[in-house]
Amino acid sequence: MNPMEIEQLLEERADLVDIELAGLLGDIKPPELAAAVAYAITSKGKRIRSALVTLSSEAVGGTARDASFAAASIELIHSSSLVLDDVIDKSETRRGSDTVHKKWGTDMALLTVQVLAALSIRLSSHDPRLIRAIADSLLYMGEGEAMELVDYARDKKTYIDLAFRKTGSLFGSAAEVGSIVGGGSDKAIESLHEFGNHIGIAFQIRDDILDVISSEADLGKPVKKDLFMGRPSIVVIDALNSGISLEQMMKCNNGQLMHLVADSIDYAEETAREELESAMAYIDKIDDNAAKEKLITLGEYIISRSK
Ligand code: IPE
Ligand code: IPE
Ligand code: MG
Ligand code: MG
Repeated sequence: MNPMEIEQLLEERADLVDIELAGLLGDIKPPELAAAVAYAITSKGKRIRSALVTLSSEAVGGTARDASFAAASIELIHSSSLVLDDVIDKSETRRGSDTVHKKWGTDMALLTVQVLAALSIRLSSHDPRLIRAIADSLLYMGEGEAMELVDYARDKKTYIDLAFRKTGSLFGSAAEVGSIVGGGSDKAIESLHEFGNHIGIAFQIRDDILDVISSEADLGKPVKKDLFMGRPSIVVIDALNSGISLEQMMKCNNGQLMHLVADSIDYAEETAREELESAMAYIDKIDDNAAKEKLITLGEYIISRSK
């Protein structure tokens, strides 16, 4: 399997989660809140975290089908974090469409965040280990988003800490819940949990790179946001630390910016590769099988993806 085939795998696995999610929309009132929640759930992202859940289940001897409720649970936490993030970042586009707050206003968006998280917890409520994993990533993501607002990250170490909290932790929880549901040993669960944390950090680094090198048309969300919102992307941090000023970066068009911060993009790519290598050291500890191979390729896809 190569990284291209991963996109196909993600699409196939999305169906499993979509069926679970469709069943949750029954009785939310009032209709405006139900519509906002349905909108957030049915707008299709890449479904990477939910694929990580089902693959982690298979990697420890379980099935994708038995893990599909847990995959939906993680996808709901992800959707919830995006609706909230778009309020905080004042982003008006997500997945190529208007954001929830753009359509329904900030108040309804915040309530959507709460309901999505509640639906997630309900899905996993029969197993305290799943609740704990979800609560951990909710807490970490809150910290990570707050760290961005207070200019916490100025060097690689603090950036990695932020990227772990903001993004890595949910990937970690995804792999953790998948391997719990799949019946993995404590050792296998811990190895996959760490694998997820590290590919999640790598995912965020790639996201920072795409913010500089890609376009809104390709990503379905605004670009150069990190620069203009003063967000601590690893590319911007490294550029600042190499003596390039924010003013210099901000007056560039896209092509000029890529040229100006080319060394920092290389640095970010190297850092993503390091995180992937850390992830690989953890997944090495579980027994070989087809799902493990797919997880390894998913890691490769994450640092090379263009959307
Ligand atoms: C976006 O995540 C948020 C980040 C952590 C960078 P994704 O890129 O996985 O979003 P969707 O679900 O595919 O839209
Ligand atoms: C995404 O944050 C992380 C979370 C949703 C917690 P970003 O602000 O970096 O991601 P995008 O670019 O809006 O997807
Ligand atoms: Mg954002
Ligand atoms: Mg943000």
